[in-house]
Amino acid sequence: MRIILAKDYEDMSQKAANLIAAQISLKPNSVLGLATGSSPIGAYQNLIESYKKGQISFAQTVSINLDEYVGLAQNSPQSYRFFMDENLFNHVDIDKNRSFVPNGLAADAKEECARYEGIIKQFGGVDLQLLGLGNNGHIGFNEPAQNFEKETHKVALTESTIKANRRFFAKEEDVPRFAYTMGIGSIIKARHIVLIASGVGKAQVLKDAFLGPVTPQLPASILQFHPNVCLVADETAMSLLI
Ligand code: GLP
Repeated sequence: MRIILAKDYEDMSQKAANLIAAQISLKPNSVLGLATGSSPIGAYQNLIESYKKGQISFAQTVSINLDEYVGLAQNSPQSYRFFMDENLFNHVDIDKNRSFVPNGLAADAKEECARYEGIIKQFGGVDLQLLGLGNNGHIGFNEPAQNFEKETHKVALTESTIKANRRFFAKEEDVPRFAYTMGIGSIIKARHIVLIASGVGKAQVLKDAFLGPVTPQLPASILQFHPNVCLVADETAMSLLI
């Protein structure tokens, strides 16, 4: 694993954006695996600035997002599709027909998961997967479990995740109880993984994920087995690791 130590959130965001920008400069038709949450917003802002300066283009890029809430329409402000449009896609030249997020309103969950897994395969897998880290060690919406789920699946969100994501909703009852997420197998097949973490709230889980045992009880720990992981974390997130 490569560790890039950042000073703070802004620095982490700039460094993560640099890695993504380098990926699409070197391979314009890259398949990017993208993430939501507070962690990647700054990186997306940096990418938008680089695009506006004419330094990068997403015109040939494919994006495949990690996850989506079950039950939310694409135009719901809390949906991850809406988040991606607001925080990145509406501001760059990406072809939205080639930017994928699971369909939270799909009639048949199994079919939707198979369709999504098919998209990942159709584009030859993910070149660079950006990941945030849930407080309980989840990646995408792969919650602590008995086994590592391989492929895209429907997952019941844990109380801790519902509480953590409550801040985006008017009230706790509005937070969806289920989500679609790429599986751990789908995630670790990515050729290059960039995990970002900022803030003291991520310090313990980051330490457990990289210095503790590899276990489905802490899904991010699987990243210890990936040959090409780059952790971009700021000093407070890294405070228990260094
Ligand atoms: C959500 C997303 C994850 C994300 C996590 C952490 O649960 N499904 O992909 O990594 O939040 O969010 P944050 O970056 O806001 O801490």
